[in-house]
Formats: sequence, structure tokens, C-alpha cells
Amino acid sequence: MSDRPKVVVAVGLPGSGKSSYFAKVGAHPVSSDALRLQLVDDETDQTINGRVFALVRHLVTQRLELRRPVTYVDATNLTRRERRTYIRIARQHACAVEALWFDVPLDVCKARNAARGRKVPAYAMDQMAARFVPPSVSEGFERVLKAAQSPL
Ligand SMILES: Nc1ncnc2c1ncn2[C@@H]1O[C@H](COP(=O)(O)OP(=O)(O)O)[C@@H](O)[C@H]1O
Ligand SMILES: [Mg+2]
Repeated sequence: MSDRPKVVVAVGLPGSGKSSYFAKVGAHPVSSDALRLQLVDDETDQTINGRVFALVRHLVTQRLELRRPVTYVDATNLTRRERRTYIRIARQHACAVEALWFDVPLDVCKARNAARGRKVPAYAMDQMAARFVPPSVSEGFERVLKAAQSPL
């Protein structure tokens, strides 16, 4: 067993249950939606992603410098390009890095998303599903775990 701090990168479409999971386990993830809310009072605003993800990287780095045992990243992280930043930051700090995959069918994500007030338009969900690349060990994660989808 290793006692290195670790970064756990959530991977999943909007509505796949990422934020609910973190709330349920009592974690305090670095969340792109929470940062949108803090910056512009709107967690759906996609026009400030440069600032949002600069902050995500900064907060993850700060937590690793503080040697927090676990740092969760709550964002969709659908592509390798989006995920590789966290793999790099973890390695730079001699930390472990894993993916936590919320493997939920698109239809289920859409239904949950619609039920919470159409937060993300259906066409945007389709575009995201088309971009999605499953997380893998080959891109640099030490482990890829699937989040259990037990009912809330
Ligand atoms: N395991 C689950 N079973 C049933 N409903 C869920 C589950 N996880 C999340 N939900 C519901 O789905 C919606 C989206 O969940 P959320 O955690 O906000 O997803 P994400 O953060 O991935 O966008 C919420 O209304 C939530 O209550
Ligand atoms: Mg969320």
C-alpha cells in the first residue's frame, strides 16, 4: 500500500451522478460548476471556461502542496486532453492519480438532466457523448474505477 496523496478524476456526462456521489460520501471536490457559481453566479455559464479550469488546476495544485490525502475533481473530463492535465499535476507532486468513471447511459443522463430543469440542452448532451473517450490506464491513470450507481 502506498500513502501517497491521490487525485481522483471524475469522468461522466452531466447527469451521471458525479456531484451527488461526492455529496453522499462527504467529499469536498474541486468542482468546475461550483467555481462557475462563485465567479459569475451561474453554474451553467460556459463562456468563462478558461478561468474556471485555471482555477481548478490551481486548487488541485494547492491541495497537493498541502498533501491532502485525496483530491477529487468534479467535472465531466470526457476527453484525454482534459484529463491529462491532472495526470501531469499529480506526477509533478509525486501523487497517485485515478479515474472514477460514472458509466451511465446517455438516455439516463438526459432524463436526470431534464428532471432537474434542463440544465444542459439535449443537443449539448449529444455533442458531449460524441466526444467522450473512456478513461484508461494507457493514458496514465494508475487505476480506473467505475462508480457504483446505487440508487440515492
Ligand atoms: N445514483 C443515482 N440514482 C438516481 N438518481 C441519481 C443518481 N445520481 C444522481 N442522480 C440524480 O441525477 C441528477 C444529476 O445528478 P448530479 O449528481 O448532479 O450529476 P452530475 O454532477 O454528474 O451532473 C440529480 O437530480 C440527482 O439527484
Ligand atoms: Mg455536477
